[in-house]
Amino acid sequence: MNKVLITGASGQLGQAIYGLLKNNPKYELYLTSGHEIDDGIVKTLDITDKEAVETLILNITPNIIINCAAMTAVDLCESEEDRAYEINSLGPKYLADSAEKVGAKLVHVSTDYVYDGQASEPYIEKAQTNPLSVYGRSKLLGENYVLESCPKSFVVRTAWLYGQGKNFVNTMLRLADEGKSIRVVSDQIGTPTSALELARAIVVIMDTDIYGIYHATCEGYTSWYEFALEIFKLAGKKVEVEAITSLDYPTPARRPMYSVLDNKRLRELHGYYMKDWKEALKEFFENLK
Ligand SMILES: NC(=O)c1ccc[n+]([C@@H]2O[C@H](COP(=O)([O-])OP(=O)(O)OC[C@H]3O[C@@H](n4cnc5c(N)ncnc54)[C@H](OP(=O)(O)O)[C@@H]3O)[C@@H](O)[C@H]2O)c1
Repeated sequence: MNKVLITGASGQLGQAIYGLLKNNPKYELYLTSGHEIDDGIVKTLDITDKEAVETLILNITPNIIINCAAMTAVDLCESEEDRAYEINSLGPKYLADSAEKVGAKLVHVSTDYVYDGQASEPYIEKAQTNPLSVYGRSKLLGENYVLESCPKSFVVRTAWLYGQGKNFVNTMLRLADEGKSIRVVSDQIGTPTSALELARAIVVIMDTDIYGIYHATCEGYTSWYEFALEIFKLAGKKVEVEAITSLDYPTPARRPMYSVLDNKRLRELHGYYMKDWKEALKEFFENLK
């Protein structure tokens, strides 16, 4: 039996992984989240509390830890820099230190925003990083801490994630329902990735001992504008969407203009392919029915 501890279990990815593993007798699950959830299943664990992290991990002695906890509000990270580094860098370090103590594997999730978006072809795992934002820098430091502290670690970079929770898909649907005018940037290119597809890839790699950095996004690429059009098409909503540029929509955090990731190691080391982003989005809408 594999004991699996999931941190950030109430987030989009945490919920998707729980959904995949909950009925699998091979795994005994331990779920934690940053805030208190009174459901008798999810326990509270603030990953920035070093002592609490160590106590829980020494107590459970998990075989695998999957860290889905993060401060994901990219713009908020600019104004709350200290908190961003605590959650995205130090929290993962504490998890990695404790994982190493009990000999657990650690799956740590990271982001396409570790890149500066100046590339003209998809980034492979060893491509040069150069984050443009506090979020990206704090996540990159978290990656480095994890890789340094825990020899049995997988760092899984994903992008443009959507599942159950706050995300671009749900925001678009809400704006459409409110009858708001919708303007979406068309000059940032990346790959929408469903939390379910990412969860499936994580489950494949976590049972192996091929450690290191992975890229795990759906296949293909698009702009936020085209992504919005596809969402409305699949949701059967007739709305006008105006394509704008990043200059028309200034945000506190700078974002990469091109952050397409190449899942090279997933393909070459595991023979694993993730779905095309449009297929995964279709599946997401089918699962809502
Ligand atoms: N969302 C994206 O578009 C995107 C893109 C690329 C990469 N990623 C990465 O993918 C991973 C999963 O993202 P997601 O979208 O599933 O995130 P999410 O939905 O925002 O969930 C984040 C989770 O982290 C928990 N959390 C926050 N602070 C915590 C703390 N101090 N201690 C413990 N838990 C804490 C939250 O729980 P509470 O609310 O209870 O604190 C929540 O369960 C993250 O590593 C993120 O950086 C996300």
